[in-house]
Amino acid sequence: MRVTVFGVGYVGLVQGAILAEVGHDVTCVDVDQDKVALLNNGGIPIYEPGLEPIVKENLAAGRLHFTTDAKEGVQRAEVIFIAVGTPPDEDGSADLKYVLSVARTVAEHMQEHKIVINKSTVPVGTADKVRASITETLRQRKVELSFDVVSNPEFLKEGAAVKDCMSPDRIILGTESSNSEKVLRRLYAPFNRNHEKIIVMDVRSAELTKYAANCMLATKISFMNEIANLAEKFGADVENVRRGIGSDPRIGYHFIYPGCGYGGSCFPKDVQALIRSANAVGYQARVLESVEAVNYAQKEKLFGYISDYFDGQLDGKTVALWGLSFKPNTDDMREAPSRVLMEQLWEEGATVQAYDPEAMEETQRVYGGRNDLRLMGTKEAALSGADFLVICTDWQAFKAPDFELIKQQLAQPLIFDGRNLYDPQQMHELGIHYFGIGRGQ
Ligand code: UGA
Repeated sequence: MRVTVFGVGYVGLVQGAILAEVGHDVTCVDVDQDKVALLNNGGIPIYEPGLEPIVKENLAAGRLHFTTDAKEGVQRAEVIFIAVGTPPDEDGSADLKYVLSVARTVAEHMQEHKIVINKSTVPVGTADKVRASITETLRQRKVELSFDVVSNPEFLKEGAAVKDCMSPDRIILGTESSNSEKVLRRLYAPFNRNHEKIIVMDVRSAELTKYAANCMLATKISFMNEIANLAEKFGADVENVRRGIGSDPRIGYHFIYPGCGYGGSCFPKDVQALIRSANAVGYQARVLESVEAVNYAQKEKLFGYISDYFDGQLDGKTVALWGLSFKPNTDDMREAPSRVLMEQLWEEGATVQAYDPEAMEETQRVYGGRNDLRLMGTKEAALSGADFLVICTDWQAFKAPDFELIKQQLAQPLIFDGRNLYDPQQMHELGIHYFGIGRGQ
């Protein structure tokens, strides 16, 4: 089937590459000429495990095309995905200008029936706006053409995007058109083999499903962070509590890991956007407001421990920092807890010696040029001459370090661990002063 994807960000690029991988003929359109040129040369603008070979192979096989030519993109495909960004505007609402601009582009160039699919995370009611925008542009062109707008949200996780896209838990189709449903069932047939994953519903429910999923996961995390804060007050260990409650299948072990807060391009933005959408229809989303407030506070937690430990005297201290990305297996630093910590440390006059397995270039791009940030080539180098160690990301490479080396390199054997990677008892036996999240110091 001929498919066009507008937007080669995380969602669009992965979706386009995977649809090509299963045999569809996919054109990816983006306004960014540099990105398109890079992709046409087999390069990848993001770090995502497993994506590069898939893009290269399908490019070589002629099933995947990258272009800035929107007209060609619209005219050659029966199914058109909108996978452009929806950044938060000043008040946290999702900004739809890119989505609606693609809708107009589709309407300007279409010459026959098209199925337009919203893949971007968009507020409830966006499909109606896309429909209105296409109708208006067609009216201006004085042509009458039929089209469908479908909501088909994406649920992939950064770092596991290829796998998530190849074997989705579910495929949500928000459509009231039986023809669109038939076409999309054909498109997704390769992903729907072993058991039924397609759930068809009305457009608005599909749009809300995406926000509900992310907000539920963010709620689990903030809830657990609150329990961690209580565990500290009560002298309990939240890791025992986590295991204790996770064993109840109604609660489950997923997304109840306490830590230094959730980050990334999705949870913070989506929680905020649903709060704003709720306000817009006269509803105060109290649970979500609390989820957001707890997360803000949690991102300041590590700094709080550090500042208390040193009685606020951080001027001139050198801090070894492991982990800059918002989570492992990505170089993405959007809304990363490490940023809040570094900025607080700098404010107090400390210098940060940082290491991350993937996010060094990104850190250089965001903070390069500061003389209170040293980017180190290895996790061991980051320790050298530092006063203490802080961990912000649960990369595999940090889980079993050489603790003797850590003790040797640091001015004092002191670790602040924002991801609860180590056993406090073992740290005690090794003579390391250890602070985890919600573990009772
Ligand atoms: C999230 C969702 O998990 C995906 O299902 C969704 O499709 C995606 O957003 C999206 O809307 O595009 P992602 O932001 O890539 O995916 O990352 P997650 O793996 O969900 O992690 C988010 C944050 O929560 C990270 O900072 C992570 O460290 C934190 N987290 C996660 C915790 O603090 N505790 C946990 O138990 C789990």
